[in-house]
Amino acid sequence: MTNLVEPERDVPWMEKIAVYPGFFDPITNGHVDIILRGLRLFDQIVVAVLKNPKKQALFSTKDRMAMIQEIFAHQPAIEVKAFDGLLVDFVRRQKARIVIRGLRAVSDFEYELQMALMNRQLDPEIEILYMMPSVNYSFLNSGVVKEVFSLGGSVAGLVPKIVERKLREKLKQGRLSVGK
Ligand code: PNS
Repeated sequence: MTNLVEPERDVPWMEKIAVYPGFFDPITNGHVDIILRGLRLFDQIVVAVLKNPKKQALFSTKDRMAMIQEIFAHQPAIEVKAFDGLLVDFVRRQKARIVIRGLRAVSDFEYELQMALMNRQLDPEIEILYMMPSVNYSFLNSGVVKEVFSLGGSVAGLVPKIVERKLREKLKQGRLSVGK
């Protein structure tokens, strides 16, 4: 066909693998919800945990990955890997072309649009697919979880049990102080 701007885009993609990137400090039930939705569409999801020394994290990369691995221990379709550098380079190394992201509210949109378009600029062959989480988690992010927990609030039902346990450990170690 001659009238198409990007004729290769007319070829249907039958993707089996998708990458779900994030900082996951820590993973929440909102992230889990997106991963499970992703599994309805893809055979395999690589959860890509950003190891970024510039960004201060409560949990180490190893701990963030271990929590995700434990949550999906019985789900062989989920693989957990760490990455640094450009996301598009990591996605290419996985032989994947789809990135999954969750979109909670309008407030996410500007950042996600910028990220999606920048990634497309870097590699037009990679598509970013946005999914809405369950409304139960549409207000949720890792930062809110840490703040609420540090102030003595309950995060039950908002994070997997393993995350609650690890947050409690951090609190005991004084790494997540109450009232701060
Ligand atoms: O959990 P987050 O903080 O929303 O995840 C953001 C993440 C890790 C997806 C994003 O920061 C990222 O892709 N970082 C890798 C660096 C990169 O590729 N930057 C260019 C695209 S904006």
